[in-house]
Amino acid sequence: MEKNFILKGHVCYSVDKDRLIAEENRYVVCVDGKSGGVFKEIPEACASFPVVDYGDRLIIPGFSDLHIHAPQYSYRGLGMDMELLEWLETNTFPEEAKFSDLEYAEKSYGIFTENLRKSATTRACIFATVHREATLLLMDQLEASGLAAMVGKVNMDRNAPDYLREASYRVSAEETEAWVKNAIQRGYKNTQPILTPRFTPSCTDELMAELKKIQKSYELPLQSHLSENPGEIAWVKELCPWSEVYGDAYARFGLFGEECPTVMAHCVYSNDREIQMMKERGVFIAHCPESNTNISSGVAPVRRFLDEGIHVGLGSDVAGGSTESIFHAMAHAIQVSKLRWRLQDASLKALTVEEVFYMATKGGGEFFGKVGSFEPGYEFDAVILDDSRLKHPQELDVKKRLERMIYFSDDREIKAKYVRGNQLF
Ligand code: GUN
Ligand code: FE
Repeated sequence: MEKNFILKGHVCYSVDKDRLIAEENRYVVCVDGKSGGVFKEIPEACASFPVVDYGDRLIIPGFSDLHIHAPQYSYRGLGMDMELLEWLETNTFPEEAKFSDLEYAEKSYGIFTENLRKSATTRACIFATVHREATLLLMDQLEASGLAAMVGKVNMDRNAPDYLREASYRVSAEETEAWVKNAIQRGYKNTQPILTPRFTPSCTDELMAELKKIQKSYELPLQSHLSENPGEIAWVKELCPWSEVYGDAYARFGLFGEECPTVMAHCVYSNDREIQMMKERGVFIAHCPESNTNISSGVAPVRRFLDEGIHVGLGSDVAGGSTESIFHAMAHAIQVSKLRWRLQDASLKALTVEEVFYMATKGGGEFFGKVGSFEPGYEFDAVILDDSRLKHPQELDVKKRLERMIYFSDDREIKAKYVRGNQLF
């Protein structure tokens, strides 16, 4: 399809965390893959553009999933009666080891990629495994799907079972650089490498120092985990006695924002100092409420992150989370924020529909550039929602229809999807 076109329908998008535009019968203009804005009438200059009339359907920017593990998709909804460290040993590491087998990887990643393609997610930050070839295979599949993704070969050179741990920090770094080169050679349009040290307990100081060199040479972003679980945080303190807060274990190596665009999942237990560091360094937080519930991690102080102006988006964190649906992540974010307010800290009010929609679109989208809104100049990612299956006897305005989608929609409502002006379906 030409990248100049117009979509007609009821349009919802965020201007900021408190301002959600929800308007009936509007024209959303795509000019050369970018948004030209939202209009009541077709602008004169676009009179020749083809118009796709989506009638009574909703048009929203696509969602960004800032944190998801592709190899864990196979065991979503299984084995969660444990906390993080036991859960990793019991479920995660044995499953991730299977990705040395490319046939298994192709089958598993095929299911993951197809389901992500059908979801309302247009952008994602994805963990693969330590395996270079399987990670490239995942990148090939994602590229073919039309989604826009950052994908990481995971690094682990300590505290993992022999069958999964990389042989040394040198091997891990060499494999990582080779993978980055392979990814560049493949000339992907929508799939980018992102450095992915699993978390501090999995990576020696020597490996972190090597990753910094690779990060600098290839100007790569980075994703990891931070302050998710009390046992994990105590372990990091033992492993890095020089660190005052967990974030220092990344910052010491130049892998915590600033010159290194960084997204950290969870930040449930980040204290004042760690929060201040993330703010100053522009670190993005991936809030993963369902995972934080399933593996009993806790509830992150998201209201505080928003009030402080820290970049924060949503993550499904499959398989800590059971679903790739960012609609469900939005509902979970609201729900856990209410429990946190009631049970833990009445000074932080619960999150609103406006705020979680902002986090799912523009807040998280900013990690990818101008992504997550229909304001002029934003990359044209759009999802068309048909809620006619979800019957109601009363009149509902556009914002209320969107609100219901958050709580009880599924794939069946997602009728069409565009990434950078290309229609996926
Ligand atoms: N910390 C280190 N690895 C993981 C993982 O795979 N999932 C989650 N939720 N936390 C982690
Ligand atoms: Fe995770």
